Amino acid sequence: MFGRLITLEGIDGSGKSTTLRHVASRIAEKQPKRKIVLTAEPTSGAVGRILRAELRETSGNEPMSSALRMNELFLFMADHAHHLAETVLPSLKEGAVVLSDRYADSTAAYQGVTLQGIVPHPISWIREIFRPWNVVPDMTLLFLLDPESALKRLKSRPGREKFERLEFLRSVDRNFRRIALAEPERFVLIDAARDEETVAEDATAAVLDLLSR
Ligand code: TMP
Repeated sequence: MFGRLITLEGIDGSGKSTTLRHVASRIAEKQPKRKIVLTAEPTSGAVGRILRAELRETSGNEPMSSALRMNELFLFMADHAHHLAETVLPSLKEGAVVLSDRYADSTAAYQGVTLQGIVPHPISWIREIFRPWNVVPDMTLLFLLDPESALKRLKSRPGREKFERLEFLRSVDRNFRRIALAEPERFVLIDAARDEETVAEDATAAVLDLLSR
């Protein structure tokens, strides 16, 4: 039996991590026999820990050289490869429903911004690198929220990360929307400006619909 891979994507502060917990507990309630695996990128593995430390320690205002931007891209990709090998593929082989808080689309959307002017057409280029070895999700929930509101939500949380800046998040938001337009059959757009309960209901309905197919 092969499981299902569902990913949650969106800009920082769009509410996907909170919704992921709601969705997981609602599915567990409705379908208690299903194995559900909650996971995330960056992972808690060796490369994921390096990335998390770098995200916390670097302020978004520090200029980054082209070489360091490439380094960051390949760290995210290495972490993705580790995630596939250690968590995603083994869980899918066991027939689990895998819910991932971020996945390869985040790399295309975020590093699609950081690599602007360094490689031509960065989103397409990044997606091309993933293509031969990635496992494409069965469904991707894209949480859409205007970057101003997302930043307001983030201000109430402790600790800041380097990508939490308005202009940057605006570009990431545009990239996510472009990626979703290119694969409308995979993406479900979630209006994340609504209250937590309504967003969770919507996201759960989309996941249950996929699981019933
Ligand atoms: P998080 O806030 O969802 O835990 O993600 C950490 C940050 O890392 C967030 O700003 C998005 C960013 N990120 C990338 O830039 N590229 C990636 O491939 C991933 C997975 C995350």
